[in-house]
Amino acid sequence: MSEVIAIYPGSFDPLTNGHVDIIQRGSRLFHRIVVGVLINLEKAPLFTVPERVAIAREVFRGWDNVEVDTFDGLLVEYARSKHAGVIVRGLRAVSDFEYELQMALMNRRLSPDVETVFMMPAEPYTYVSSRLVKEVVALGGSVHGLVPGIVEDRLREKKLARETLRA
Ligand code: PNS
Repeated sequence: MSEVIAIYPGSFDPLTNGHVDIIQRGSRLFHRIVVGVLINLEKAPLFTVPERVAIAREVFRGWDNVEVDTFDGLLVEYARSKHAGVIVRGLRAVSDFEYELQMALMNRRLSPDVETVFMMPAEPYTYVSSRLVKEVVALGGSVHGLVPGIVEDRLREKKLARETLRA
């Protein structure tokens, strides 16, 4: 059987333990999994793309079949360029489904030979999102256990830097 390569695309602003859980599952299922950090010029991100890439590379250092990369443009074109036949997306709750279904079917229309595979994270992460993590940290709450340690450190640094700027 030829190598099955999967792309796990996303914003990862920031990477959460839910993402890590999906990548771990994907790394067991596929020969190689490429974490594709979207270069999205429209959003106002908390972390720059290079910061997000550096964090993910640190978290997945030593995971032999996990690669961290960036992409822009159409996801299916990026998948083709990486010789990936699979797009992995995490599904946490029914609320994720509609948007994910639209994307999966649009991607299938654009490139019928790329298959989207949905994976469920472990239960403790079913409510975790990058958006909520950012909100909780901005308001002074703890996200310990919900994000990798390095993300917790970087979030703290960002918050301190912003508070210093405002002072
Ligand atoms: O983590 P996110 O923000 O939910 O990830 C969204 C992502 C990166 C998967 C999506 O925005 C995407 O695939 N962007 C690439 C542009 C594209 O291919 N659009 C058409 C297919 S729906």
